[in-house]
Amino acid sequence: MQLLMAMTGKDGTEWLNAVRDAMPGAQVRSWTADDDAAADYALVWRPDPRVLKGRHGLKAVFNMGAGADALLALAKEDPELVPESLPVFRIEDAGMAGQMAEYALYAALRHLRRFREYELQQRVQTWRPLRPRLAQDFNVGILGLGSLGAEVARRLVGWGFNVRGFSRREKDIEGVQCFAGDKAFDAFLTDLDVLINLLPATSQTHGILEKKCFSKLRRGALVVNLARGSHLVQDDLLDAVRSGQVGGAMLDVFSVEPLPSQHPFWSEPAITLTPHISAVTQVNESAAQVSKKIAMLERGMTPGGRVDFALGY
Ligand code: NAP
Ligand code: GLV
Repeated sequence: MQLLMAMTGKDGTEWLNAVRDAMPGAQVRSWTADDDAAADYALVWRPDPRVLKGRHGLKAVFNMGAGADALLALAKEDPELVPESLPVFRIEDAGMAGQMAEYALYAALRHLRRFREYELQQRVQTWRPLRPRLAQDFNVGILGLGSLGAEVARRLVGWGFNVRGFSRREKDIEGVQCFAGDKAFDAFLTDLDVLINLLPATSQTHGILEKKCFSKLRRGALVVNLARGSHLVQDDLLDAVRSGQVGGAMLDVFSVEPLPSQHPFWSEPAITLTPHISAVTQVNESAAQVSKKIAMLERGMTPGGRVDFALGY
């Protein structure tokens, strides 16, 4: 079996070794610009279009991360690169959900216990206890209840927060008040103290974090974007934090990454930035997951995590 790998922006050698270890029977190679040989499976992350160009005979493509938006954008530009008949699978959790939960929990606790406000007070040597708040009275909403969002929701429930979740289809997660579909969006948002975004980037979710959405939250709420920069209308967030409607934001993803040096987010005191690290793809776990999925495909079975081109995730 021939496996072709193309991992833009990742340590190609580390990935190659992990996949070789996970699939000792396979011939695994890294893509080079002159590679036009056949392959059974392609394992890619934000690939150069030439990786897939004319690569006939592929049985499936593995998107080596949770969000398949970059790959689907390639498919949209040139349907011959990734035809809809070619199965595309994404990474499901593989060690990412726990990391997301840590990030989300930190954000929620920091806001609940007013640590940012105390940091600001310390800078001006102010000793002033602020009104305490309790987790059970704190409404935390998670946009997206998939591999990552559902685990984040469960962990926050464990910490005593009043947790809501929003998804396309109905869900039943113990302790989580689940909302589904566009009609339920306003009810989901109303009076949230923390809004955490874990939606895929699709045409339906583009710009979902915008003025009207912010206006439904409890005044001073925290907005946490851990999914994609395209979900956020940046000027609306700046207006909302400057007016106080949004009390702060923790942002891990941006429309342009790295965030350009002149971007106003860098110097906005109410915004905390991280460089797309909320959940880093785990090399060995991901290689093991792909190995299992390929074994299933070879046996004629259908593994989970197939990307739906029409839905965009
Ligand atoms: P997933 O398993 O596909 O879950 C997506 C969730 O979003 C599902 O619950 C889905 O609803 C819901 N959804 C999709 N479209 C919707 C819509 N129009 N309205 C309401 N709900 C909608 O994805 P995942 O593995 O949890 O990953 C989520 C995203 O996190 C990725 O796409 C990626 O962009 C981002 N991510 C970021 C990082 C980082 O380091 N910052 C790391 C990994 C992933 P259904 O359940 O009803 O289908
Ligand atoms: C990272 O952003 C991913 O989608 O896995």
